[in-house]
Amino acid sequence: MEKWRAAGFIYRRLLKHSSNHVFTSHNSIPNFTRSSISGFAYDYCNIAAPSHNLVGQIGYRNYATSAQRNPMFSSVNSDDIVHFKSILGDKYVIEDKDKLDDANTDWLRKFKGSSKLMLQPRTTEEVSQILKYCNSRRIAVVPQGGNTGLVGGSIPVFDEVIINTSRMHKIVSFDKVSGVLVCEAGCVLENLISFLDNEGFIMPLDLGAKGSCQIGGNISTNAGGLRLVRYGSLHGTVLGLEAVLADGTILDMLGTLRKDNTGYDLKHLFIGSEGSLGLITKISILTPPKLSSVNLAFLACSDYRSCQKLLLEAKRKLGEILSAYEFLDAQSLDLALKHLEGARNPLPPLMHNFYVLIETTGSDETSDKQKLEAFLLDSLESGLISDGVLAQDIQQASSFWHIREGIPEALLKAGGVYKYDLSLPVEKMYDIVEEMRTRLGSAANVVGYGHLGDGNLHLNISVPQYDNTILAQIEPFVYEWTSKHHGSISAEHGLGFTKADKIYYSKSLETVQLMASIKKLMDPHGILNPYKVLPPSSLTS
Ligand code: FAD
Ligand code: MLT
Ligand code: ZN
Repeated sequence: MEKWRAAGFIYRRLLKHSSNHVFTSHNSIPNFTRSSISGFAYDYCNIAAPSHNLVGQIGYRNYATSAQRNPMFSSVNSDDIVHFKSILGDKYVIEDKDKLDDANTDWLRKFKGSSKLMLQPRTTEEVSQILKYCNSRRIAVVPQGGNTGLVGGSIPVFDEVIINTSRMHKIVSFDKVSGVLVCEAGCVLENLISFLDNEGFIMPLDLGAKGSCQIGGNISTNAGGLRLVRYGSLHGTVLGLEAVLADGTILDMLGTLRKDNTGYDLKHLFIGSEGSLGLITKISILTPPKLSSVNLAFLACSDYRSCQKLLLEAKRKLGEILSAYEFLDAQSLDLALKHLEGARNPLPPLMHNFYVLIETTGSDETSDKQKLEAFLLDSLESGLISDGVLAQDIQQASSFWHIREGIPEALLKAGGVYKYDLSLPVEKMYDIVEEMRTRLGSAANVVGYGHLGDGNLHLNISVPQYDNTILAQIEPFVYEWTSKHHGSISAEHGLGFTKADKIYYSKSLETVQLMASIKKLMDPHGILNPYKVLPPSSLTS
């Protein structure tokens, strides 16, 4: 009882929600998911519009300043256009400047390519014909899905032809017994989530950009997202792929089996290779059944060590029902509250040092509720959490997710941002945020958030203007620090263009050489997404 009094405020808060049906159970997980996101991702799209004021304010950096166009590549001529029109029809051979402006611009509005042509195939056969022709003419291409990538991988560096998969959005089949979904690569993630909702299933992947990103793009980046802690990586859930190689060969690896040990499992080469080895046209993915009880808690911790300890406790005590464990620091919440429309502090009036979102998903409302309740009360008593609130309904859960998922958007609105997506040992993860703050002083706002449950920190450095003096204080320090602590310089976003030359911080010379040999074998003329993933120097030897 003493302990309850000590934690009186928090206890009252919990009690209040408790008496009011604290632990919200939802009949439909995907409904819950959808409402937590729908508006957001489309907002993200709008924010990405290149006409936005911020573009002028922070200015594009020119790709060409840090790369040289490969002189072996041909420029597109009028005969090429005629040929592409013979494959796709006039409408889907796009030369319109406004449409190209969007497709040439990355989500972060940091870089701008100068492609003069975007192709929008509808079928695998069309993709094959396009690539076969481009390969023979040495025309470089960049595969593009929803263009929400954060490492400059989805836009051209120079004048590469953009092959956009938006028209490849058919669901091919869904097997309710096995839960295997087969669909085309251009399906928007949120549409797949909605489709599965009606079937009583969920996607094993969920991320803030779901309203725009496509499953082909997700697989090509091996996106992690908010529920990896529960459902694992796409290397586990993707069962099969269809991909087109640089020379137009169609590789049918579209199996739907859980187990198949016949030879090398080549689909894994395409998962996370960011369009550099082939263009994914179809996918098959294992989807889990939708469960009836979802709960979301927004908690405050006074220090990072408590967030970390709470994770261990959550894994131990919530075990099989834990479906998300995300964290953000006070600086991240502050940005979200300042810049996100409709964002409210879930734990007013104070600002705490750290916040954790814990989501549980299970099949037994009563026992899930008891488990989470017991876990939260224990955590309060032991002082691991200093305040907390449980979503009482879908709207409240949405508003909590809005804050976490909206941080990238808030950062974009705040000005320029240097983004680092690091895998680090959980106990070391926040040290780099603090060291960076000390290094940069008042020159920048250093924020840390991410997928703590997966050891994935999003270290973001928000600046009013891009500034090379600040950048020189961040890099190579951030990469050296990560390497020294045996981390990865890209946990989930990939290397794209911005980090291709940093690969050696996370991979050995021999490993990169083997990657380069694979690239040269599969794409001898290097037409697929050039200048990305691997440093050009690794491909010349
Ligand atoms: P694009 O951006 O179009 O392309 C990404 C890369 O894949 C490029 O290299 C492109 O060439 C290649 N590519 C695209 N389609 C194909 C294809 N069919 N075949 C071959 N190559 C292809 N990432 C995470 O991992 N976790 C997150 O939680 C997360 N949250 C995000 C939140 C926001 C607000 C934003 C803007 C991004 C987020 N991301 C996250 C980044 C993430 O990489 C993308 O959102 C997503 O996976 C990319 O999908 P896309 O369709 O937009 O691909
Ligand atoms: C996220 O987790 O919000 C995304 O990976 C995007 C980001 O890192 O900003
Ligand atoms: Zn992330």
